[in-house]
Amino acid sequence: MCGIIGYAGFRDVVSTILQGLTNLEYRGYDSAGMAIQDNGKIKIYKTLGKLINLKNELEMKRNELKHPALGIGHIRWATHGSPSLVNAHPHTCTCGRLVVVHNGIIENYKELREELIKKGCKFRSQTDTETIAHLVADEFSKTKDLEAAVRNSVKKLQGAYAICVMHQDVPNIIVGARKHAPMLVGVGEGENFIASDTPAIIEYTKKAIYLDDNQIAVITKDNVKITDVKGNEIKKKVEVLPWEPMALSKMGYKHFMLKEIHEQPDVIRNSLNGKLFDIDAPVNLKEVKLDKSILKKLNKIEIIACGTSLHAAMVGKYIIENFAEISVDVEASSEYIYRKTTTNSSTLVVGVSQSGETADTITAIKQAKEKGAHVLIITNRPDSNMARLADSLIPVNAGIEVSVAATKSYTAQLISFYLLAVHLAEIKGCIESSYLKNIKHELIQIPTKIEEILSDTTAIQECAKKFSSYKNFIYIARGVNLPTALEGALKLKEISYINATGYAAGELKHGPIAMLDETMPVLSIMVPGGITYEKVLSNSEEAKARNAKLIALTSSSDKELNNLFDVILKVPHVNEILSPVLTCVPLQLLAYYIAEFLGKDVDQPRNLAKSVTVE
Ligand code: M6R
Repeated sequence: MCGIIGYAGFRDVVSTILQGLTNLEYRGYDSAGMAIQDNGKIKIYKTLGKLINLKNELEMKRNELKHPALGIGHIRWATHGSPSLVNAHPHTCTCGRLVVVHNGIIENYKELREELIKKGCKFRSQTDTETIAHLVADEFSKTKDLEAAVRNSVKKLQGAYAICVMHQDVPNIIVGARKHAPMLVGVGEGENFIASDTPAIIEYTKKAIYLDDNQIAVITKDNVKITDVKGNEIKKKVEVLPWEPMALSKMGYKHFMLKEIHEQPDVIRNSLNGKLFDIDAPVNLKEVKLDKSILKKLNKIEIIACGTSLHAAMVGKYIIENFAEISVDVEASSEYIYRKTTTNSSTLVVGVSQSGETADTITAIKQAKEKGAHVLIITNRPDSNMARLADSLIPVNAGIEVSVAATKSYTAQLISFYLLAVHLAEIKGCIESSYLKNIKHELIQIPTKIEEILSDTTAIQECAKKFSSYKNFIYIARGVNLPTALEGALKLKEISYINATGYAAGELKHGPIAMLDETMPVLSIMVPGGITYEKVLSNSEEAKARNAKLIALTSSSDKELNNLFDVILKVPHVNEILSPVLTCVPLQLLAYYIAEFLGKDVDQPRNLAKSVTVE
């Protein structure tokens, strides 16, 4: 999705903004642009495609810039109008003296555009954003006060926005405003920043002010002023950002995705830290703020999420129902929104999101809150909008995830669900404590078992090479690993663009089996000792009988499997109910190595964005 950085300060303005945009690159975009205040003039640079094009353009035109004083930069993920130079940000008013960059969607832009055209404004792009430029310029013409012009303009906007505005006639300031889209101010010494997300500024300052909806920020190199919708100044807390700049380095790995896959053992240790360390002690989940008496009687949980987080939620349903005997509904946030749900004040609604900014999930959470539900958020971004809506908050502590394909945040979400399920089971006292002790013991062993998988990935790499030319895959599993099949297939789709479908193994013969032949490999997830092992094995036999090439993902050492499967990928033995935390890892690696082998842009796959801030 789009990204914004504004900078006023002593550093080289162009390279500071470029670096900020580079750190937002992982979010996914199709064009980039920058506006610089230089010698009393605003100069605009825009390019299509990757940031390197903007860097090259600016290098070529560097001599045009005499004394760059401050500027705003943007990467655009097209929503209104194709990815083209004319639609790239910054956008200007008719005379070109005012510039704006924008994240979000202005829903009433057509009406506003018509009014502004009637007033004589000349529109050049198909974007909703250009409307903001003309609107603020119109207001500015009345007062010559940029801050007031932004304030008066945003009152007329419907939808979501984080904007930064500069005007040639007001040379030293950047004005920012937000509603339903994140924005923060980075506070420095002799410099200040304004950005849509932390990574843009983390290299320069760890001090930040998070803007709330309807607040306006004015920054100069020496000053930050935050006001409310009426223009009253607000004193806001300067927070210390939880990230280290090092998190944005690949640390010697070829891609962020590979680095993040390898971080998983430590991420899990981190997630368990302080919550589960002694199998004889109850799980310590003080983050769940509901009274024990309410938790004891809880009989309905709804979990809402999108994409990979939705797959974590599906595992969550399985284990909460299994351990805590509470009925759980799981639904994609984008569908939940349109359903007349039975959510009420005795429902616990769990929102799951890596970014905490996914628009569909935020809308769904707001709906649930309106119905009186207690909202528990599981997120990797305790500084996000979603976290701010939470009644209870479980931060998954995976550290910043740069690769668009979610990996470590997924395993961290799974661990949060295991902790939650055990916590609920312990409060309810509904399951034998010896069983829970075993589960807790095995959970503590998980990081070491993942390290075992990561210590030798040769078989996975060979499998990737062998199967990289296939155009279609089916991943099958049953029970708690069905979400693993869906997630494994999603990983392959999103980074290699190969068609991969996750299927409940038992459903294969109800339709998809018709597609099977030697061109469609079937990957079966089978955990020996589990309740689904034999059945998935039979379903694999059925696929073999239709000439499909077979890959097994299992901990079984049964030699007989060699007669059935073309490739066997191994994970260490684990209780089936905990196995999704292990089985997902070889599937992440398989997707990674296939994409890498095919020369795809692993960390920034086409058309995708890291956080999807539009519905
Ligand atoms: O930030 P969220 O977890 O709410 O994001 C949800 C999905 O957009 C996300 O999981 C997406 O599916 C990833 N690209 C998966 O790798």
